[in-house]
Amino acid sequence: MASFIFFLSFSLSWAIVSGISWSEFLYPNFTASHYKFIDGGGSFLFSRNGTFKAAMSSPGTQQTRYYFCVIHVVSHNIVWSANRDAPVSSSAQMILDFNGIKIIEEDGSLKWSTPGLRSSVSALELTETGNLILMDKFNGTLWESFHYPTDTILIGQKLPVGRWLSSAKTEDDLSTGDYKLSITADDAILQWHNQIYWKFSMATKAYTNSNQAVEYMAVNQTGLYLFGHNGSVVVVQLNLEQSNFRMIKLDVSGQFIVSSYSTADRNPDFAGPVDRCRIPFICGSVGLCTDDSQSGAPLCSCPSNFKAGSSKTNDCVPSDASYSLLVSCNSTRNGTKLNSSSLISYLRLGYGTDYFATDFAAPIKYGINLTSCQDLCSARCSCLGVFFGNSSGSCYQLENELGSFRLSSSSENDQLGFIKTIVGPPSSRGGGDNGFGSQSSNFPIVALVLLPSSGFFLLVLLAFLWCRRSRVYTKGKTKVSRPSSPSEDIDAFSIMGLPTRFDYAELEKATDGFKIKIGSGGFGTVYKGTLPDGTEVAVKKITNLGLQGKKDFCTEIAIIGNVHHVNLVKLKGFCAQGRERMLVYEYMNRGSLDCTLFGTGPVLEWQERLDIALGIARGLAYLHSGCEHKIIHCDVKPENILLQEQFQAKISDFGLSKLLTPEQSSLFTTMRGTRGYLAPEWLTSSAISDKTDVYSYGMVLLELVSGRKNCLFRARSHSTSDDNSNGAPSSSSSSQGLIYFPLFALDMHEEGRYLELADSRLEGRVTSEEVEKLVCVALCCVHEEPTLRPNMGSVVSMLEGEIPLCQPNLASLNFLRFYGRRFAESSAVEESSGKDSVTLFPKANNSRDRTNSGSNTYFSYISSQQVSGPR
Ligand SMILES: *[C@@H]1O[C@H](CO)[C@@H](O)[C@H](O)[C@H]1NC(C)=O
Ligand SMILES: *[C@@H]1O[C@H](CO)[C@@H](O)[C@H](O)[C@H]1NC(C)=O
Ligand SMILES: *[C@@H]1O[C@H](CO)[C@@H](O)[C@H](O)[C@H]1NC(C)=O
Ligand SMILES: *[C@@H]1O[C@H](CO)[C@@H](O)[C@H](O)[C@H]1NC(C)=O
Ligand SMILES: *[C@@H]1O[C@H](CO)[C@@H](O)[C@H](O)[C@H]1NC(C)=O
Ligand SMILES: *[C@@H]1O[C@H](CO)[C@@H](O)[C@H](O)[C@H]1NC(C)=O
Ligand SMILES: *[C@@H]1O[C@H](CO)[C@@H](O)[C@H](O)[C@H]1NC(C)=O
Ligand SMILES: *[C@@H]1O[C@H](CO)[C@@H](O)[C@H](O)[C@H]1NC(C)=O
Ligand SMILES: *[C@@H]1O[C@H](CO)[C@@H](O)[C@H](O)[C@H]1NC(C)=O
Ligand SMILES: *[C@@H]1O[C@H](CO)[C@@H](O)[C@H](O)[C@H]1NC(C)=O
Repeated sequence: MASFIFFLSFSLSWAIVSGISWSEFLYPNFTASHYKFIDGGGSFLFSRNGTFKAAMSSPGTQQTRYYFCVIHVVSHNIVWSANRDAPVSSSAQMILDFNGIKIIEEDGSLKWSTPGLRSSVSALELTETGNLILMDKFNGTLWESFHYPTDTILIGQKLPVGRWLSSAKTEDDLSTGDYKLSITADDAILQWHNQIYWKFSMATKAYTNSNQAVEYMAVNQTGLYLFGHNGSVVVVQLNLEQSNFRMIKLDVSGQFIVSSYSTADRNPDFAGPVDRCRIPFICGSVGLCTDDSQSGAPLCSCPSNFKAGSSKTNDCVPSDASYSLLVSCNSTRNGTKLNSSSLISYLRLGYGTDYFATDFAAPIKYGINLTSCQDLCSARCSCLGVFFGNSSGSCYQLENELGSFRLSSSSENDQLGFIKTIVGPPSSRGGGDNGFGSQSSNFPIVALVLLPSSGFFLLVLLAFLWCRRSRVYTKGKTKVSRPSSPSEDIDAFSIMGLPTRFDYAELEKATDGFKIKIGSGGFGTVYKGTLPDGTEVAVKKITNLGLQGKKDFCTEIAIIGNVHHVNLVKLKGFCAQGRERMLVYEYMNRGSLDCTLFGTGPVLEWQERLDIALGIARGLAYLHSGCEHKIIHCDVKPENILLQEQFQAKISDFGLSKLLTPEQSSLFTTMRGTRGYLAPEWLTSSAISDKTDVYSYGMVLLELVSGRKNCLFRARSHSTSDDNSNGAPSSSSSSQGLIYFPLFALDMHEEGRYLELADSRLEGRVTSEEVEKLVCVALCCVHEEPTLRPNMGSVVSMLEGEIPLCQPNLASLNFLRFYGRRFAESSAVEESSGKDSVTLFPKANNSRDRTNSGSNTYFSYISSQQVSGPR
């Protein structure tokens, strides 16, 4: 017996070693079928070290659909398939001949073939990287599978702009599914029926480094990248842990998943979207996805006015059978289509319902009322529903195909969702509901037949979740021994390095019931407080956060909490309870830079200004490259720079921009950001990078020099004689009124008259060289072209005198002249009308309006006042 087994294993291994199966090359004329290589599971080609194999194989447990595919051996992942949309039987043949590869069904029909080649094939190789290559007789490549990706890319493979990955339909049906990953000129996006649902650059861990156009996506041992300029520029990058085998897959679920393998263990490196309720079809058509905060698993139900549909999917249908859903006019699915005699009615979705596509698509109209919004939808056969922003009057259309909805976590969501229906049951002639359940009277029977199976599963799931929930609850209760703390709190997960967590009650007590307000900003109001141990703190009560969930909030807090630098305000703790979100910072006793610099108190001496400039530069340099996660501040301005004794400057509010939803970050850009500090790229919707902060820093530096707001500057001839009259017109501008200081600084730089720029209150206690240093650095920082701006590390070195000063590039500063001229014009109008310039451009206040209609955004950039709300 033993010898027999020995013989068997010996002969098997011998067969593998000696047989055709252990080869990285195949030569014409070769044929293979699953049946022929059934002992090896259909495999007939192995890469040199056996990392990959090629096979005629059937994924999963089914045995009807066979594919010619490349398989990663240890993980059994199919990384490429030839005939994904034309599966064949187990006896179909793969044929390698001089013309390439063909797949022929048993009955002789051609199912798939390589395209026409420029010369005849001499060999087929499967490389160690997983690439199938057809070679000519000089070993030149005629065709390679890496150029025809299916749903996966591997190390060494490029996914160029214009190409895409498509998910498979299911795990064992590899045919092209509905989810698509495309590479665009500035990002990698996920789409479902032409509607975007995720962008790579938005991922918390992804950094945008450059504005160059993207050319391809690639992954290697240490990261995932979007490259530009023929691979020499990394446009967006995601750093990953070192691993020798890594693959990117657009999963059947609709998630983009990066995983690495050490032996057969899969390590998920990264996934997007993280919140699975953002996957378009997670709960079927019109299903409602709710995040279960404990299990993290999405739960599906139907929105109000809808009930579970009659088919085996999760789809929901109107509860009132006298309404029925439509399909888009260009949909390939069978269903009721809109025609001119249809009577349309809109069914309202419940409060706080959100749709994945409205975060990415622009509204089709702004500032209209709900009736007009619905009328627009009724007139279009591709429109299947609307989302209407009640306060902004923006009208979004749901098009092409109806996906799932989710419950919004933001309390500020005032969107109203409506599904377009027609009155009357679906017409049976129009090819109703996949042929069954089209008459409403049938429905209960069908439901009764179907419910036991699906309902049972649902019950089990609910029971399971309930157990988890109550277990966590009791655990939390015994641990915290404070029954008042809400059960759905963050006890359920632990995140490394989270700063101290406070209870709402603790902070209420520390701040004496939020009594002493010390500031307010775009994110909320700041109160002074004293902890029981006597430490003074600043408590920021956040009102404008787009929380995608407590876990995301906590992840961000953990990142911010782990950043420690003398020039950054320290986060001492946080509170996330119910809907409340609060951040507890160290208290800074000298207030913010804007009060000290622009206020009426004692004038800041030059050395103090220098110390502050250096402090901010060091803090930003640390955020950009010193800490584990690169952090772009996005809102550098004097209000966010806090001072302590000895004029030690500390930057506050860093890391918060990541907490905004995409929707709110556009709000952040167009409303909350302070015009004067925003870099031009904010307005042209190009990539935001660390160089965006450099620009804002440059603007702050100029204000440190002049002691005035850049936009409220009057030329010296005016400012020194404020008390008497408007003296002679200034040298560089014909305007009677305000001068755009950055432009004035540029003029004075060209003429070498630096002392003209220094704060007159210093009364000469500064030399021309000292001013020149700051002005040159500042002008370099505000170059229009981000790549020409120095990074913050170089700024620190320049200020410290370690490296030579950079010379401002006049060509890249010309835009200041343009802005300056328009600024002078608008301020002249403003002066004559005696009004705030903002009122001239009311559209600038519309947070939803990102149409980039040139002048609007342009003016918001230079408008002389902060358009922003309280800050
Ligand atoms: C391969 O097959 C083709 C046509 O079937 C034939 O012309 C050719 O001679 C064959 N080559 C070899 C090496 O057998
Ligand atoms: C195959 O494995 C050997 C030893 O394990 C290694 O030296 C060689 O580089 C590998 N070849 C390839 C193509 O990866
Ligand atoms: C092609 O590659 C094979 C294997 O690497 C080698 O043996 C052969 O000499 C090469 N042929 C040419 C023409 O370079
Ligand atoms: C991966 O690619 C990046 C960007 O080109 C590069 O900096 C890095 O060194 C590469 N890593 C490895 C292990 O080759
Ligand atoms: C791109 O780079 C490759 C090698 O890195 C080079 O062969 C090719 O000529 C370059 N193409 C262009 C357009 O610069
Ligand atoms: C459906 O038609 C509209 C125009 O009516 C078009 O904009 C849209 O791209 C089409 N969608 C698909 C999936 O073809
Ligand atoms: C239009 O749709 C209605 C149902 O919505 C149907 O009864 C009618 O026959 C359709 N008319 C045409 C011309 O298809
Ligand atoms: C909505 O707007 C349209 C066009 O602006 C107007 O005719 C209509 O009266 C408005 N309806 C309501 C209810 O305000
Ligand atoms: C929409 O806003 C108006 C006021 O702008 C308000 O009266 C109305 O109640 C709001 N509707 C909903 C459903 O919130
Ligand atoms: C649509 O309906 C037609 C005839 O009513 C039927 O032949 C076809 O298979 C249906 N297609 C789908 C996808 O259900």
